[in-house]
Amino acid sequence: MSTDVHRPAQREYTRVFPLLLGAVTAQAVAVFAELGVADHLDDEARSAEELAAGLSLDANALGRLLRALATSGVVGEPEPGRFRATPESETLRDDHPSSLRAMARFGGGVLHRSLARLAEGVRTGIPGFELAHGQPFYEWLADHPDEEELFQRSMTDTADMHYRMSGLLDAYAWRGDETVVDVGGGEGALLAALLQTHPRMRGVLFDLPAVVTRAASALEAAGVADRCEIVGGSFFERVPAGGDVYVQARVVFNWDDTDATNVLRRCRGAMPTHARLLVAEWLSPESAAVQATNVNDLSALLIGGRLRSPAQWAALLDAAGFGAPTVLASNGGGGLSLVEVTAP
Ligand SMILES: C[S@@+](CC[C@H](N)C(=O)[O-])C[C@H]1O[C@@H](n2cnc3c(N)ncnc32)[C@H](O)[C@@H]1O
Repeated sequence: MSTDVHRPAQREYTRVFPLLLGAVTAQAVAVFAELGVADHLDDEARSAEELAAGLSLDANALGRLLRALATSGVVGEPEPGRFRATPESETLRDDHPSSLRAMARFGGGVLHRSLARLAEGVRTGIPGFELAHGQPFYEWLADHPDEEELFQRSMTDTADMHYRMSGLLDAYAWRGDETVVDVGGGEGALLAALLQTHPRMRGVLFDLPAVVTRAASALEAAGVADRCEIVGGSFFERVPAGGDVYVQARVVFNWDDTDATNVLRRCRGAMPTHARLLVAEWLSPESAAVQATNVNDLSALLIGGRLRSPAQWAALLDAAGFGAPTVLASNGGGGLSLVEVTAP
């Protein structure tokens, strides 16, 4: 037997051991967000005691939370035991223009509880969310308005950044006078931005009734309410007809192939022959190459959805009656990609 067998597998050990702590790091970020610590940090280094007093927290525990977060640069620790803001901590402030605070809070609360059921989910194929909460994701949200609002806030706050990364806002060749139907458009962040940029464009915001009730004030504040119709309903039952461009951004990955095909079919049925569908989604790679996307797919599994590769997208769109997709922008690094499809 070679001596190598007896030597501790140090290289593998030191790779795997930090992975075991990944859930703790994610939870530390979520707790930092939940407690609103970022809003109390600035350029001046402060002790854990000073920060804890301002936030009514335990100084010892807060100091250890901040030190753990300093390891990954979420906060700065310029001298031992004193902490200050970093560009990363700023993203977890409430008033950051693309705040990740709501997303961290939602992920660390509701979704984290589903993660605890992942083993059972992998054994049975049942989404971890249903195992943990007893209902499918969107049905549960409909029964829990506070969590639903937090989820939608996480979507709205991150929308602009995601849409810009995919090119949906800036790079896409908008004509400028289209009627754009945003299917599953949340609280209207995309339409507000598009209609502000294109003064002759019109919009139709379509989402669940409870969600779109909150959209009117945002569209009003953006000065585009007179060009945007708000329609509440389920995209499994109907999609507003007559648009020139239909958008589904961060929608289809929420659903398994059967539901995804149904949503796309409904959309196809509502579209005039000249209309196009734009899909902004995370595309999964054919291999394990892009780690962020593959981990994201595992989160989608928790709520019963999946990320799809370009080939899987082509099959799905074909089943729903669309033509072949064109990938306009492909963002391997975890950003949304942009896919355009026409009716055949
Ligand atoms: C992940 S969010 C994305 C929202 C938005 N497109 C964005 O990118 O910020 C998915 C959206 O689908 C909506 N949705 C879920 N089920 C729906 C249904 N049956 N009918 C219409 N919209 C639905 C949700 O309310 C939510 O706004």
